[in-house]
This record gives sequence, C-alpha cells and structure tokens, in this order.
Amino acid sequence: MKSSNFNKYKVAVIGCGYWGSIITNSLLKIGIKKIYIYDQNYKNTLILKKKYKNLIITKSYKDLLNDKTIPFFFFATPPSVNFKIVSKAIIKNKQIFLEKPGFIKINEFKKINTLLDKMKKFIMFGYIYCFNNYINYIKKIIQSKKLGKILYIRFQRENLGPIRADVNSSYDLSSHDLSIILHIFNKLPNPIKHIDYQVLKKNISDISNLHMKLDNTYIDINSSWLNPIKVRTITVVGEKKMLFFDELNLNNPLRIYDKYAKYPDMSKFDKKFINSKAQIYEGNSKSIIINNKSPLINEINHFFISMKNKKKPLTNNKFSYRIINFLNRIN
Ligand SMILES: NC(=O)c1ccc[n+]([C@@H]2O[C@H](COP(=O)([O-])OP(=O)(O)OC[C@H]3O[C@@H](n4cnc5c(N)ncnc54)[C@H](O)[C@@H]3O)[C@@H](O)[C@H]2O)c1
Repeated sequence: MKSSNFNKYKVAVIGCGYWGSIITNSLLKIGIKKIYIYDQNYKNTLILKKKYKNLIITKSYKDLLNDKTIPFFFFATPPSVNFKIVSKAIIKNKQIFLEKPGFIKINEFKKINTLLDKMKKFIMFGYIYCFNNYINYIKKIIQSKKLGKILYIRFQRENLGPIRADVNSSYDLSSHDLSIILHIFNKLPNPIKHIDYQVLKKNISDISNLHMKLDNTYIDINSSWLNPIKVRTITVVGEKKMLFFDELNLNNPLRIYDKYAKYPDMSKFDKKFINSKAQIYEGNSKSIIINNKSPLINEINHFFISMKNKKKPLTNNKFSYRIINFLNRIN
C-alpha cells in the first residue's frame, strides 16, 4: 500500500518535544495533511508550528479525545505521564502509536493490556530498529546460519544525552537493543549480571552494562548517556564469520568479516599432539550496502497498514510488555 493512501487521515501528535517533532516531520513527508498537535507545554506547540506551518494547534487534550474525526494518536511523551493520557485515548477507541519505552511500571502495563484485550485491540510501540532495513538484513543473515553458530553479540549505544529524568539509561537506551534481540530471536536472553552506575545523581543510572545469555550465545548491552561521542554499533561473532554494524557510518555501515577463531578438535589428534593453541582465520571482508529508506517512515507505514487492516502490529503491546518485564526484573 502506498503512503499516499494515508494522506486523508487525521492524526494527532501528543508531545511536541524532540521526538514528537521528528514524528511530525515524517507524517508530513508521507503526505498527511491534517496534523493536530498538543503539548502540556503550549510553547512547544508554537515552536513546532513555526517549523511546519500547516499544523493545527490544539490547547485541550480533552477536545482532541472527544473529536471522533481524529482516529490516529501518536504519543511522544515521557513514560511517567503515559499511563494517564494513553489509557484515556484507549477508552476513546483511538488507534495508538506510543513511543518506546511507553510504560515502565509493570502493574500499569498489565492494566493497559487487560483493557486492550477486553476491547480486542492492540497498540503499537515505537521500537524503530525493528523497521530498519539493516537490522532486518542482520536478522536474515543470522537466521540463514551464514555466520555459523552465534557465539557472542555486543550492542553499544552511547552518547552525551539526552539525559532523562523519569527513566534510567537501561529503560531509555537498552530497550532499543532488547527490541532488536526479541525481533531477531523471538525471545529474550537470561540475565547474568546487570551493572549500572548512578553517576550524575541518585536513583537514575546513567550507565548500564547488561550481561546475558540466550541459549549458547553470550550477549552484552552497553548503554550510556554520559559519553563524549555518539556510538551505535552491533558486533556479532559467529563460529564461521563475524559482522560489524555501525549505524553512524553512512558510507560503510555493515561489514561481514570472513574471520573466525577456534581451538583444534583435540579428539582428532593422538595423545602426543600438544599444540592446543587457538587457530585464527582471517579472510576478506565484504561491505553490505542496503537501500535504507527512513526506518521511521517504514514504522509509521506499518502502523497505518496494521490499523487499517485491523492486524496486530509487529511491535505491539505484548511485544513491548516482554521488554519492560525483562527490564523490571533486572532493575
Ligand atoms: N524511537 C526513538 O528512536 C526515540 C528517540 C527519542 C525519543 N524517543 C522517545 O520519545 C519519548 C519522548 O522523548 P523526547 O526526547 O521527545 O522528550 P522531550 O522531553 O523532548 O519531549 C517530551 C514532550 O512531551 C511533553 N509532555 C510532557 N507531559 C505531557 C502530557 N501530560 N501531555 C502532553 N505533553 C506532555 C513535554 O512538554 C515535551 O514537549 C520518550 O519516551 C523517548 O524514549 C524515542
């Protein structure tokens, strides 16, 4: 279905901060003409309207909820306020897209799931990496076994800011990497150890190091909003090949290395054989270039198509619940 089919849709964007303005920009790009914006801080709606002239500012959330002609609600609001405002929109039967991590209190999330189940509805969560063509390529290559058995995966997600006041770095940042793991393997790992540091102030950790195991694969997630440079990488170590994805490298983001290390199979040698050194094989590497259309536009298209066809979106509330449940356990 073409994006142009959506251009008659009426859409509300709740929360006009950093990410709300990026969502608005993408909605405009796919041709949505009627975008109603609302923010608790009125100034932020004015700033957004200055940037994109055709937006319609709404001063009352209640009025938006009561307007039956506006079916689609995009929330880019802090997790601490979401339970209150999103549950009202569910009751009003709105079609909802909610930015990750969405809800972080498990009892609130359970109430939302019960309400949605009762109404036979799903909401979609903005786990953008599930709509990234490179991530989907990595998923395919892991599943194809071209890398061999996967021994180790490391996710690094670091930057200076944005520093959140209501969630720690694992909810804010590692949730993205957990969504990638869940998307690729259809399950989450078992936690081994979570080491996090509250550096700037008490009660919110700025740095999170999460060590886990999924079947026989060790997985680490390093997240920090206290790093001088932006890092967004994934390293996959397979038995046969290795892969390195650097989202910020626009020319050469994904490379597959024909490299591996292994110990010789000692059972194949007689007892006199004493060289048990690991063998290292270093072959060529190959750069993979994919047409990576905006993941956010892919994501928004998926939302509209799912809602139109009354289909469960990929990153639905059950998907997100697994991530938040995991994060609740390790925090
Ligand atoms: N998918 C991604 O890659 C990505 C990137 C950045 C942020 N996010 C997510 O988007 C959400 C917002 O993040 P942000 O960086 O835009 O934060 P932000 O602080 O820049 O913006 C949040 C906005 O919500 C408004 N707001 C707060 N309470 C409100 C309420 N009750 N009703 C209406 N508006 C309210 C604030 O005034 C502010 O303008 C977070 O959950 C964050 O994790 C996702």
